[in-house]
Parts: sequence; C-alpha cells; structure tokens
Amino acid sequence: MDMRPDMKVDLAGTELHNPVMPASGTFGYGQEYKDYFDLSILGALVTKSVTWEPRYGNPLPRIAECSQGMMNSIGLQNPGIEHYLEEDLPMLREIYYGPVISNISGSSPEEYGRLARAIDGQEQVVALEVNISCPNVKDGGAAFGADPEISRRITEEVKKNTSLPVFMKLTPNVTDIASIARACEEGGADGISLINNFKALKIDLKARKPVTAMKYAGLSGPAIKPIALRMVNEAFHAVDIPVIGIGGISNADDVLEMIMAGATAVQVGSANLVDPWTCPDIIKELPKRMEELGIESLDEIRGVI
Ligand code: SIN
Repeated sequence: MDMRPDMKVDLAGTELHNPVMPASGTFGYGQEYKDYFDLSILGALVTKSVTWEPRYGNPLPRIAECSQGMMNSIGLQNPGIEHYLEEDLPMLREIYYGPVISNISGSSPEEYGRLARAIDGQEQVVALEVNISCPNVKDGGAAFGADPEISRRITEEVKKNTSLPVFMKLTPNVTDIASIARACEEGGADGISLINNFKALKIDLKARKPVTAMKYAGLSGPAIKPIALRMVNEAFHAVDIPVIGIGGISNADDVLEMIMAGATAVQVGSANLVDPWTCPDIIKELPKRMEELGIESLDEIRGVI
C-alpha cells in the first residue's frame, strides 16, 4: 500500500496533484523555464498579468535587490490579450499539459469584464486570477484593491463575464485585509490570492535618488513571508472561500506554514528568479517533510492556526 502523504488539493472544483504553482509575473508564459524542468509537475501555472492592450511597462531600472528580498516596478509589461490568446497560450500548451490560471489586469471594471469574456472557454484554463493589487500602475492596480467597494464591483463584473472560478489577487497595502476579502466574497469570488508585494523605496546614497526609475517599487521575497502568513490567516478566518497563499515562499517548510495559516494552495514568486528549480525542488521535498512531521494530508493541517 502506498503510504506517501497526500499532496492533492481541491481548488474551487479543480483537483491539483500538488499545491505548488509559480506566481504570476515570475514565470512569464512558461517558455523561459521549459528547459529547466518538466513543467507538468506543477500543481498549476499562473501566467503573467494580461491587459487588453499591450503594455511596455515602466522605465528602467525597474528591478532592485535588497536584503531578504527584491523590488520591482515592472508596470504590467505584457503583449496584450490578442497576443496572449493567439501566441502565448498555444505555445504554453505545447510544453505544459496541466491546469493554467490566467491572471488579468485592467484599468476599469469594464476592461476586467472584457478580458474575462475573452479568456472564457480557453483549453486548459481552469480559473482566472484578477490582479487588483499591482502597486506599479497609475490607473487601477493596488488602488482598486485597497477599496472594498471597487473590489466588489470588479469581482461582480468578472463573474458576469466568465464561467471560470474567479480568484481575486489582493494587495497587502491596506489596513484591514479581512474587509477586502469579504467584499470580494460578497461580489461572488470563488477564492482569493494574497499577498501581492509591498509598496517600498530603495535609495542610492551617492546619487541621492531612488534606485528604481519609478520612485516606489514592490517589495517581495523572504522579507515579507511573516506578514504574508499573518494576512493569509486573517483572510482565511474572514471568508469561506479558498485562499491561495503567496509571499516569500522558497521551500517546503514555507509551504506547510502557509497551509497551516489557512491556504488551500500556494504560489512561489521571487524565489523562481533566484533559483529556477525552486518549484520542482519544493514539490520533491514536500512529501518528505510531511512524512517527517507526521502529516498524512494537507487537509489535515489546513487552517489549524
Ligand atoms: C508589475 O508588473 O508591476 C508587477 C505585477 C504586480 O505587482 O501585480
């Protein structure tokens, strides 16, 4: 009899063979990683935020390293929905056979709705992740996700335009994450993903200027993990829909902490940029750590905190 711990998770009706997926924006549309490992071992794959029109993003430099993390001010660079549907998703299907979660971003509720409609029915796409949390754009982004009313409206608009489960991706740059999570649930969300990055500043002392061309940039990586755990836990206790935990995950123990905090599944972000084998290493390590810790299934430990 196979006594290996059970890593399967049910994510709003889709069974994932493990809970690990790369976070949007750290994995492109899969092509950059295909020579490192067989992508189909991933629980799911979340694609970079797509907007209706192509976007060049913010001026360079827009990445900075800092202790225990990194900062980015990319500004939602992406090729636009037409290219995504006609080139990026078909190319991804040639190298990856598992569930895809399409991340969408807009500058108005109506744009989110149009994107949802355009993606509905795409082969392999099992859910939408709705980015209302990017700190690097003038129109929308984290400003949407900081307002419960707008968060609810966008959720409703997306839900009206898709038959897919909808996960709202939340910003940590708020005082009360529970109220935003509840607003999304009331708007019909099937789940929430959190956290996106923290609006931050790094200064070049000699130049007496910010290091990034945009003054502020989003901080992610191990530095934010304890705050991410707290916010995932608060959101988990505020809603009855599944939570995808994100923030500073780089090993199997981080995954187990996130699941104990209440996450159904997890996303690995900045760590992919440090070590492209992070996701496969975690997927290999996770059952071993579960066995060592006497955990038979992830359901057993979810939300015990
Ligand atoms: C970006 O493209 O600016 C990063 C994505 C995000 O933080 O949502």
